Formats: sequence, C-alpha cells, structure tokens
Amino acid sequence: MTKNLFIKTYGCQMNVYDSDRMAGILKPLGFAPVDAPDQADMVILNTCHIREKAAEKVFSELGRIRQMRDARRAGGEDMVIGVAGCVAQAEGQEIVRRAPFVDIVFGPQSYHRLPEMVARAARAAGQPILETDLEADEKFDNLPTDTETTGPAAFLTVQEGCDKFCSFCVVPYTRGAEFSRPARDILAEAKRLLAAGVVEITLLGQNVNAWHGEAPDGADWSLGRLIRELAGLDGLRRLRYTTSHPLEMTSDLIAAHGEVPELMPYLHLPVQAGSNRILEAMNRRHDRDTYFRIIDRLRESRPDLALSGDFIVGFPGESEKDFLQTLNLVERVGYAQAYSFKYSPRPGTPASALELQVPEDEKSDRLQRLQDLLNRQQLAFNQATAGKTLDVLLERPGRRDGQLVGRSPYMQAVHVSAPAHRIGSVAPVRIVEGKANSLSGIIDGNMTGEAA
Ligand code: 5AD
Ligand code: SF4
Repeated sequence: MTKNLFIKTYGCQMNVYDSDRMAGILKPLGFAPVDAPDQADMVILNTCHIREKAAEKVFSELGRIRQMRDARRAGGEDMVIGVAGCVAQAEGQEIVRRAPFVDIVFGPQSYHRLPEMVARAARAAGQPILETDLEADEKFDNLPTDTETTGPAAFLTVQEGCDKFCSFCVVPYTRGAEFSRPARDILAEAKRLLAAGVVEITLLGQNVNAWHGEAPDGADWSLGRLIRELAGLDGLRRLRYTTSHPLEMTSDLIAAHGEVPELMPYLHLPVQAGSNRILEAMNRRHDRDTYFRIIDRLRESRPDLALSGDFIVGFPGESEKDFLQTLNLVERVGYAQAYSFKYSPRPGTPASALELQVPEDEKSDRLQRLQDLLNRQQLAFNQATAGKTLDVLLERPGRRDGQLVGRSPYMQAVHVSAPAHRIGSVAPVRIVEGKANSLSGIIDGNMTGEAA
C-alpha cells in the first residue's frame, strides 16, 4: 500500500537535494511524495538554522502539523512527524522539549538511517527519537542517488560541511567538518542524471570550491579538474557550482571559467562585508583587496562573468564607516544579483557573544540602503540584456498558458512563449525586456540544441 510522504524544505539548495534523497530512501518502504501535509502518513520538515527567523518558523509550522495529525487520528489514521536539517542538528533537545509530539528528530548526517528510524518510531510510539551524530563519511555511501525530481536541471552534492568557522555562522556546527565525495561517485551520479534527461548540473557544497577528491586513477583532483571531467560527459550542456569561499578560488578553477564552455558565466562568491576590520572580526581570513584581485582574475578569465554574493549588515561593532565600505565594495564589483541579511546572533557562535551588537533599527536602515544599491545593479544588469540573444535552458511551464520559464547563462529567469515539449532544450532567445527579477524574450529562428 502506498503511503503519502510530505517533505517541506527550508533554506539552501543542499536541503533541496537532501529532501530528494530522503524521498528516495523512503520509496522502498512504500512512501510516495504528495504536495500537501494534511493527508500525509509522514511529514518531514527539512529545516534551516542559518538565521533566527528561519529557525523559529519550524516551531510554528510544527504546531499546524500537530493539528493535522490530531484530525487524522480522529479519523482513525496516523501521521509520523519528523524534523530534519540544521535546526534538528543544533536544537534537537529543544525540539524534543518544546514539541514532544514529534516522532523523529534527525540531523543532516543521519539521513541514510531514516528507514531504521521510521521502524523504531513505530515501536517507540510517543517517545521521540533523536539522531544528531556528525560523522559524514557513511552518509553518501548509503543514500540512493537516483533523483526523485524530474526536470532538465539538477543538483549534485559534491562536498558537505565547513572548516572555515566564520564567527557568525552555524554551518560548521550543524553540517560538521568539510567532507568531499570521491570523484568516482560524483561522476557516476552525474551519468545517471544525464541518462535521466538532465542537461544542467549544479554542484553543491557549503564550501564547494574546497572540494578535492580522489580521482579514479588515485590522484587528488581539485574542483577545476572535476569540472573539466564532468564537462566532457555525453549530454551535459551546462555546469554550475555553489557556494564558494574566496580563498578557495584556485588558479585552476579560475582558468576553468575561461576554458570550459559548459561552465556557465555566473558565480556566487560571498564576501559578507566590505570593511577590513569587519572581515577580520568575521574571521573571513581575507581582506577586501584580496577579494578584488580574485574578481579581477576571474573577469580576465571570463570577461562576461556575472557575479552574485551574500552580505551581512550590522555585524557586531560595524560602524557607519564600515558599512560605507560595504557599499563601496558593491559599487566597485557590480553584482548581477545578491542576497543580503541583517546579522542574526546564532547560539554557540563566537560573534553572538560579542559586545557592541548593532541596534535593530540601524540594521534595518543599512539593509535598506544596501538592497537599494543591489536592486539597482540587478535591474541595470537585466536591462542591459535587452536586444541580445541568450541561450536559455527551458525548464518548466510558466504561469500563463503557452509560456515556459528558463534560465539564461547568467541565472536570470527568462519567460518565453513556447510549447511544453521544448522543456529540456536550450533555445536562443532574443531578449525583449529586462525587469527587476526576470527577462522576457522571443525564441530566435530555429532551435539549437534540441535534446537529441
Ligand atoms: N546572520 C545573518 N546572516 C547570516 N548568514 C550566515 N550566518 C548568518 C547570521 N548569523 C548568511 C551569510 C551566508 C548566507 C548563507 O547566510 O551571508 O553566506
Ligand atoms: Fe558559514 Fe563561513 Fe563556512 Fe560559509 S565559509 S558555511 S559563512 S562558516
């Protein structure tokens, strides 16, 4: 008998990938994904702990899920409730205390044990199970890698965890130490994705450019080398990778941007702040000039590279002068797109214990000013594509009938009129208009690159 599985995913792309793996490992137990929690036999919240707001959402959602379970129980059915992800890892005990009705609380390194936990939950009825081991090496060998989601673009985790310990960040505590998957496993997973019709792969890792792994011939490969190898696989049209740390941008990886046509001209390279004083307090291990030099070298290698970044405003001790340095850095680099956040103190991180926390209204004011600038840059970047022809990977139906949505090489969402059977192909699109968050265009002449 098929059982309904509902997984709600918060936060980063790695959580999206992990949710897919969880669905895969539960499939042999008879679970099939559904779109809503109310009729689910099992609900998993795959959570994010990066900022306080993200973490708090989990508890309110759990309240709603509990009501749904009560309703099901009243009708003679049941529901297993699981909390996965980084909140489970960091606040497992707290979840058990605040939401004792949860059946399973399990961190990112225990997903391969999910079937066993589900069986134990059935026996332990009413006793929450807590699994928050941080050893990474078993996980990948024991998770199915067949993707459960369909579509021409897929994620592939190559690296997990972080050893950088930026002073604001929970990731080294929730995802554990840096772990790179062996090249052989990555190549095998990529080949399976390509055989299933995927044409674009995004390599994932918290510190993806720190990836280095054993090659099939025993050598130690860097990410640049892996990218060259993946680019040669039959059927692969596009490669991307995210998220990177500036200090791991090796010469080999920078060169790959100029030499590997499949590697898309878009890079997410967070800098977080523009003031050397704040960068040091954040333990970023590089200054602003180092970041500028890396950007210059990347642009020499690939002149049309579009950049994206992450920024934090209001880090403890950040003065107006420091903040102006962030605005100045943004002006100098010019971003195609970026994410920016107010600093959020995270329990257990060194920065949360610092004095001189910046008042909330100051943070809001700085965030507004930074976002105004970033939005202007994004709009200008999008508008500059008007009149050009870009290769667009058509990914899914749009909101309107007869419309498809795809991605440009620079990660912009592009709306075009095209029939659904063109999903999965790369089409040359003449851009008619660039708006704040998307482009619209018309497919140019004949299609190139139709999936053979
Ligand atoms: N407060 C605000 N933003 C944070 N990030 C990470 N930790 C925090 C925090 N404590 C941001 C960083 C990171 C992105 C994923 O989230 O910008 O790159
Ligand atoms: Fe967090 Fe810094 Fe590691 Fe990125 S590099 S995951 S911001 S500790």
